[in-house]
Amino acid sequence: MTALLEAEGLVKHFPAARSLFGRPTAFVRAVEGVSFSVNAGETLALVGESGCGKSTVSRLVLRLIEPDQGRIRFEGRDLLALGATELRAFRRKAQLIFQDPYASLNPRMTVGQILNEPLALHDLLPPSARRERVEQILRMVGLEPRVARRYPHEFSGGQRQRIAIARALAVEPKLIICDEPVSALDVSIRSQILNLLHELQQRLGLAYIFVSHDLAVVKHIADRVAVMNLGQIVETAATDTLFTSPRHPYTRALLSAIPVPKPRAKRSRIVLQGELPSALNPPSGCRFHTRCAYVTDHCQAEAPALIADGAGHATACHRVADLPPADAVVPHDGGFSPALEKLVAAFSLSTEGPARGGVDIVGASPPPGA
Ligand SMILES: Nc1ncnc2c1ncn2[C@@H]1O[C@H](COP(=O)(O)OP(=O)(O)OP(=O)(O)O)[C@@H](O)[C@H]1O
Ligand SMILES: [Mg+2]
Repeated sequence: MTALLEAEGLVKHFPAARSLFGRPTAFVRAVEGVSFSVNAGETLALVGESGCGKSTVSRLVLRLIEPDQGRIRFEGRDLLALGATELRAFRRKAQLIFQDPYASLNPRMTVGQILNEPLALHDLLPPSARRERVEQILRMVGLEPRVARRYPHEFSGGQRQRIAIARALAVEPKLIICDEPVSALDVSIRSQILNLLHELQQRLGLAYIFVSHDLAVVKHIADRVAVMNLGQIVETAATDTLFTSPRHPYTRALLSAIPVPKPRAKRSRIVLQGELPSALNPPSGCRFHTRCAYVTDHCQAEAPALIADGAGHATACHRVADLPPADAVVPHDGGFSPALEKLVAAFSLSTEGPARGGVDIVGASPPPGA
């Protein structure tokens, strides 16, 4: 099967300082050799600390910025070689949802106009059919069609994110990049939006790249996870595998930071020592070596390659064979904090059948002002 999206060896450096004559004198090495693929209908999560390059990778694969090196293929075609017309067609198939829906929605346009705009831009339907399509999409994201007459400021954060999702869906994309889509939302609203994304994926066969700094959030939405540190993927695996047998010391530290509800649960928190290094001047060799408890001279001298086992679990670590088993890191009961437990419960309900017990899924949220 050909992957929907394939990224290979992406590199992006941003000028960070310039000389008097405008020549760049220092660079932020935001993305340094990132490769991954996404199949149709699947969710790949990109996870890592702030500044590790997640949003830059997202912008690169949408061709909103150009890579310094690397290749991107979408449906088998070289994205970097597309002309203006083909790029427009690609833009229809790949959409982006941001963390802050308010900033991405034009405050002077009604919801109807916001959803009509991409339909008109891509000339998708005759004007007479667009209104019906707008109503259909609004229902799909759990909003009443009558909200089309209202403006973004009249909605709550969660409802605005529904509108942003509706706008992305209007052009019938195959891939949606969700860049921290729930980070700005209250925990109870998060589960609604994650449920909505999950249900839309089942219904429409969408592929997602789900960007988050929070491993706990991606656990129930991602099929595979890629963990990034300072512009590089350090580990990638199927979600279950990553959560039950994390290999890279960085992944283990991220996992150990997820709070657990039971204080006596057999697990120790790994506290990373040292400052998060800057992408302006990343460490030599393995970029994690300054914070790694297992560092050797080899780690400081040579960057490890991302090497996959037969099951598609890939790790970039020289010490991977010498590390202790992961049992101490992963919570044995799979438990998270109470708030996240609620999120998990909401997910199981939405995938098993109709929502119960106050869990809101698609269509269940009241329209604004109701
Ligand atoms: N246009 C730009 N010019 C200069 N530096 C940039 C630019 N965009 C991003 N960077 C830098 O590149 C690095 C990666 O940024 P990016 O926004 O991709 O990180 P991120 O993982 O999305 O972080 P966050 O979780 O905070 O959103 C950061 O050091 C950032 O300061
Ligand atoms: Mg970001």
